[in-house]
Amino acid sequence: MNDVNKSDFWEELYRNNTVAWDLRTPTPAFIDLLNSEYFLNKKKMLVVGCGYGYDAIEAAKKGFNVTALDFSDTAIEFAKTLAGKEKVSVNFLVEDFFNLNTSFLNSFEIIFDYVTYCAIDPARRKEYADKISQLLKPEGLFAIILFPVENRVGGPPFAVDVNEATNFFSEKLELIISTDKINSIKPRKGREFLQIYRKPNGAQS
Ligand SMILES: C[S@@+](CC[C@H](N)C(=O)[O-])C[C@H]1O[C@@H](n2cnc3c(N)ncnc32)[C@H](O)[C@@H]1O
Repeated sequence: MNDVNKSDFWEELYRNNTVAWDLRTPTPAFIDLLNSEYFLNKKKMLVVGCGYGYDAIEAAKKGFNVTALDFSDTAIEFAKTLAGKEKVSVNFLVEDFFNLNTSFLNSFEIIFDYVTYCAIDPARRKEYADKISQLLKPEGLFAIILFPVENRVGGPPFAVDVNEATNFFSEKLELIISTDKINSIKPRKGREFLQIYRKPNGAQS
């Protein structure tokens, strides 16, 4: 069962409440993005590996049309209850990202990832990058906050190599911003990197 590629692995962590990554609040740098010019005039969003759903719910509150998926039933149940309390609508899916229905191809104007890329099996990260680009609409944006970018062993989450990630995502997408000057919570300052990529116009997957 010790396999990050299986939903059981994540489900067990949520059931045991061993979710050290969880901020219990929307990600500060994501709130900044929601209010930024980058997201202006874009509505249809996917939050990948949404966990308890704080970011997805925050985006829905700001008027985005949000689909949010996660492997874990427990996390999505929590997220649905929270969305109900907050009186917002989010299309929450219990789904393996790699198996997302083909009807979603070329459909999202924004895809957001926080602390999900680091949870993906390093052997599948190129596949992950390819799938992100397939799901984006031409001109759509992929916003990712890479964490943790320092060398470390073990998981979850695994470490993230910024150069490697940039190479994977740049194969199909154009990098438009890459910075560590973001609003990180204190223990993560200097340990995370915001990148935004754009899918070139005319590109289909
Ligand atoms: C480290 S957690 C981060 C959760 C959330 N983004 C947050 O910041 O709290 C990684 C999440 O990705 C989900 N996940 C990992 N691999 C997945 C996959 N292949 N499909 C869907 N969800 C996946 C896990 O269930 C987990 O909720």
